[in-house]
Amino acid sequence: MTHHLTAALGLVLCAALPAMAQEDTTSQTIKLDAGKAFFDATCRRCHSTDADKASYGPLLDGVVGRKAGSFAGYPYSAALKGAGFVWTPGALRAWMEDNDAFVPGTKMRHVGVTDPTVQDFILSYLGSLQG
Ligand code: HEC
Repeated sequence: MTHHLTAALGLVLCAALPAMAQEDTTSQTIKLDAGKAFFDATCRRCHSTDADKASYGPLLDGVVGRKAGSFAGYPYSAALKGAGFVWTPGALRAWMEDNDAFVPGTKMRHVGVTDPTVQDFILSYLGSLQG
């Protein structure tokens, strides 16, 4: 009985250890895929991530670390153009959560992504874009 339990425990550990080593890359891939899926569903109809493709909203490739309202040639609202902050992960979360409260006067329609996990997924995806 004890022997069986020990053997079973050994099997479980053998199976779990390699999986634990891979967990970081695996969860990163899952986050990116989920982020892209959420982005496709809630943002892409207005935002391109491809510099060669024009869209209604500003290009978001490279937005993490970029100054707000600064993508060359895009006709921003005066509110966003004059906002004067950099798009950090925290600023992007606040924007996704309630963009018109974060920058009153923005012309981006309210999106209201309030779930922190979904925000996290979208952030991973935005952060993966090269700029
Ligand atoms: C209905 C169209 C629309 C949707 C949907 C939309 N956006 Fe926007 N977005 C805009 C417009 C228009 C602007 C420019 C706002 C301004 O100039 O005030 C903008 C601006 C932004 C900016 C500022 C970029 C910069 O260069 O300063 C970010 C970041 C952003 N959007 C992220 C998102 C994300 C993330 C989503 C999805 C959760 C999303 N947007 C969904 C239209 C949209």
